[in-house]
Amino acid sequence: MARVAVVGAGAIGGALASLLETAGKHEITLCTRSPLDALEVDTPEGTVLVHARNECDAKRAKAVDWVLVATKTYDAASTAQWFAELCADGAPVAVFQNGVEHRERFAPYISRDRLLPVVIDCPVERKAADRVHVRGAALIKVEDSALGRGFAELFSDAGAKPNVKLEVTGDFTTAMWWKLCVNAPGALSALAMKPSGVLRSESMGRLAQGMVAECAAVGRAEGARLAESLPEEILAQYRRQPPDSVNSLLADRRAGRRTEWDARNGAIVRIGKKHGIETPLNSMAAALLEAMESEIV
Ligand SMILES: NC(=O)c1ccc[n+]([C@@H]2O[C@H](COP(=O)([O-])OP(=O)(O)OC[C@H]3O[C@@H](n4cnc5c(N)ncnc54)[C@H](OP(=O)(O)O)[C@@H]3O)[C@@H](O)[C@H]2O)c1
Repeated sequence: MARVAVVGAGAIGGALASLLETAGKHEITLCTRSPLDALEVDTPEGTVLVHARNECDAKRAKAVDWVLVATKTYDAASTAQWFAELCADGAPVAVFQNGVEHRERFAPYISRDRLLPVVIDCPVERKAADRVHVRGAALIKVEDSALGRGFAELFSDAGAKPNVKLEVTGDFTTAMWWKLCVNAPGALSALAMKPSGVLRSESMGRLAQGMVAECAAVGRAEGARLAESLPEEILAQYRRQPPDSVNSLLADRRAGRRTEWDARNGAIVRIGKKHGIETPLNSMAAALLEAMESEIV
């Protein structure tokens, strides 16, 4: 049994809470901005009612053994306000956010040796504040380290069930960059304000492949092992999706929310610069998304 706090009970936070609940042995705290009376998670195996304490005040939070961060990348600073109390006994922090800069993002708030970056793939939507719909198994990847192995134990019972596949990998760099390569062309959909069917045209397909190629080049410079065929494979993957599939950048734009453009296309540009790698397509996507979100007319 471990005391586990999930900070952010949205789509991913809800999915994680249901996995912890299914593991059946943890004391769960859901740290939210607004009070949450209950959390129900619909999964292919049935509805999971999460039995958790709810805490909305970071100063009143109690120390736990693990903190799982499931907020958006741009909410890192407010998320970190939870750490003082939750991590009072030295709890490590697992960050379930997109992108490749988990450590850099949280460096001002938590020491490097207590932070565990996590890559998660999970088809999930938040239907209401107290209801999340998980449509399939979660694939979770962490690095092969003492922290990564300790984290995997949290889900060891749930791992026997079909709702989660947890991989402790010796090549986490590739896992992170592969996911970023998949996410990079999502910006096209968000810019066009159209679901993934928009990538079926030849011209948009070329742009998507170009964005993946830039991302893969930067990832390789960071040590990721990414095949030359990746742009083609990822485009094929997008084109196999139902044409009305909506990625999170598009969903956020449609809902008038901020998007994670900076942690996705912005990161490709930033890290590319460090290695002297040109990333014109991702630069343009990042600049346009930034301009669209900017309050400056
Ligand atoms: N959804 C997916 O399929 C998916 C897949 C892979 C990775 N990811 C990544 O997972 C991360 C979370 O995404 P998501 O889709 O779960 O987002 P989401 O549904 O918007 O959930 C984020 C939650 O964080 C909460 N939050 C923000 N700041 C907070 C704070 N200071 N204290 C407590 N709670 C706070 C929000 O609260 P409010 O309700 O008050 O706004 C919201 O409930 C993102 O980095 C995303 O890229 C998502």
